[in-house]
Amino acid sequence: MTPVHAPFPATRLRRTRATPALRALVRENALEVGDLIWPVFVRAGEGIEEPVPSMPGVMRRSVDKIVEAAVEADALGIGAMCIFPYTGIEERTEDCAGAWDPQNHANRAIAAIKARFPNMAVMSDVALDTYNINGHDGFVEDGIIVNDRTVEALVKMSLAQAEAGVDIIGPSDMMDGRIGAIRTALEETGHQDVTILSYAAKYASAFYGPFRDAVGASGALTGDKKTYQMDPANSDEALRLVARDLAEGADMVMVKPGLPYLDICRRVKDAFGAPTFAYQVSGEYSMIKAAAQNGWIDEERVMMESLMAFKRAGCDGVLSYFAPAAARLLNG
Ligand code: PBG
Repeated sequence: MTPVHAPFPATRLRRTRATPALRALVRENALEVGDLIWPVFVRAGEGIEEPVPSMPGVMRRSVDKIVEAAVEADALGIGAMCIFPYTGIEERTEDCAGAWDPQNHANRAIAAIKARFPNMAVMSDVALDTYNINGHDGFVEDGIIVNDRTVEALVKMSLAQAEAGVDIIGPSDMMDGRIGAIRTALEETGHQDVTILSYAAKYASAFYGPFRDAVGASGALTGDKKTYQMDPANSDEALRLVARDLAEGADMVMVKPGLPYLDICRRVKDAFGAPTFAYQVSGEYSMIKAAAQNGWIDEERVMMESLMAFKRAGCDGVLSYFAPAAARLLNG
């Protein structure tokens, strides 16, 4: 694009900013409730809503309370929720068998939401970290996070979620070859309409800290995730990963974290034109919350500005813990 304008004073770019009506006319992007995916945390028990200390306003909920959250989401017009399980250290194992248990908290939550709200798009998390004794997204053998055996487990996990009624499979594990393997397995088992939103460009980020508290992984995690998650210094590699995942059958792709990686969102959207999402991750959320609680920033305005930034960067939608708060504002 080559912007053309007459020299000053014939052109005064402030003219179209002078009134709310003019600003509305020239506004290039819009955030809608339909753009939001709300990530929620499910845990064992009943009647439980337990605050996550490092994420003010975010709860771990038992399945019945997750359904109540879905009631809230539905009333607000939020059309998509993403389920993450909290697993205590005592429930974690080396073989991660809980991950493909049809009755695990996440699968029960998926089924419970779908039973009450068939039109709610329910998204899952596919990775072993919430079941793994050592907090990694893949199996660990002699200190190495092994790829191919992990992919087999991720396929089993995905099929259990598909059986539970999930609409969007969310592989967040960053193993190689998992999108193709999951897609093939879904086709072979009659789940051809289940979509895959690949965490294609997921960085090894310190912004995930509060999430790891939320899912109980902080205490469990040994070492770091740098052998499978991306180096924050890289950008071309993100395009290669997105191209690979689309070629393997991903319907949608994600960049994660969000705000510090908007350049990646823009490159991905421009390069592929595929449905592109960003994850405004826990650390991004908690930074805004903490600053607001200190009275240093205006929480509502920073929240809406940050969400709009994703749209401007080319994202079709965004996963955000702010989803209900943002929806309330958007609904007026
Ligand atoms: C792990 C997973 C993580 C997040 C989503 N899925 C953390 C990690 O990779 O360690 C982070 C989400 C957030 O920080 O809000 N599979």
